[in-house]
Amino acid sequence: MKNFNNFAKKKRLNQPLVLITAYSYSFAKIIDSIEEIDAILVGDSVANVEYGYETTIPVNMEQMLNHVSIVSETCKQKPVIADMPFLSYGVSTADSIKNAGRMMKEGKANGVKIEGGKEFAELVYKMTMIGIPVMGHIGLKPQHYNVMGGYRISGKNEDQVEELIADAVALEQAGIFSLILECVTEEAAKAITNAISIPTIGIGAGKYCDGQICVLNDLLGLSSYIPSFMEKYVDLFSISKDAIEKWAKDVISGTFPKTSFHKDQQ
Ligand code: KIV
Repeated sequence: MKNFNNFAKKKRLNQPLVLITAYSYSFAKIIDSIEEIDAILVGDSVANVEYGYETTIPVNMEQMLNHVSIVSETCKQKPVIADMPFLSYGVSTADSIKNAGRMMKEGKANGVKIEGGKEFAELVYKMTMIGIPVMGHIGLKPQHYNVMGGYRISGKNEDQVEELIADAVALEQAGIFSLILECVTEEAAKAITNAISIPTIGIGAGKYCDGQICVLNDLLGLSSYIPSFMEKYVDLFSISKDAIEKWAKDVISGTFPKTSFHKDQQ
């Protein structure tokens, strides 16, 4: 049974939670087979890393549902969290719940994630009461790119830290099962993590979170832009380019295909 029971358990045992994004069948299959991974997020970062959009804002419900259902169907072991795209929540309560419900009914996700603080506490409460597990997301909120005038680190002063803690506490009281902290200072992440009893999952938030998440394409060296806090674990762009180039050259030189390429021709 796929669920988020591990989250509370690992926080209690002080064991780090490990989450990663996925968007496609091939990588969902690989990730689902990795014991150390606790959950998969179909992030709206798909907008940047798979659609090549500059921000996450253009990606819509239908695009997200497509990726969510592929990943959910593929992952037999790990629970899948569907990121709610810009304007799919927060416009009206009824539409927000309907869209989150679609992620679960049509997309077969196990929960959803929304960006925002205490202003979403009531919505989180309603979703949770209906049976939709919700993950929160505070700090850098990429869907607020135009309001913020860019991507900014938060938690840089006492007021900002207080604000982040107030958001985290309100969301916890409303029922979120865990909270993403994106691009907040290490001190702020530590203070938030100590202030709540549900797990915090950091991305660019340092080592004091209860777990870490990363964007798959950044880790694999496939993203055009890799944030400074992330490490490229492999350069799949170059490896793939070399392989494709080699095949193209083999076709041109006549080395591929081989003469007897069907087994029954032999
Ligand atoms: O969309 C995404 O991939 C995310 C992660 C950065 C947490 O929200």
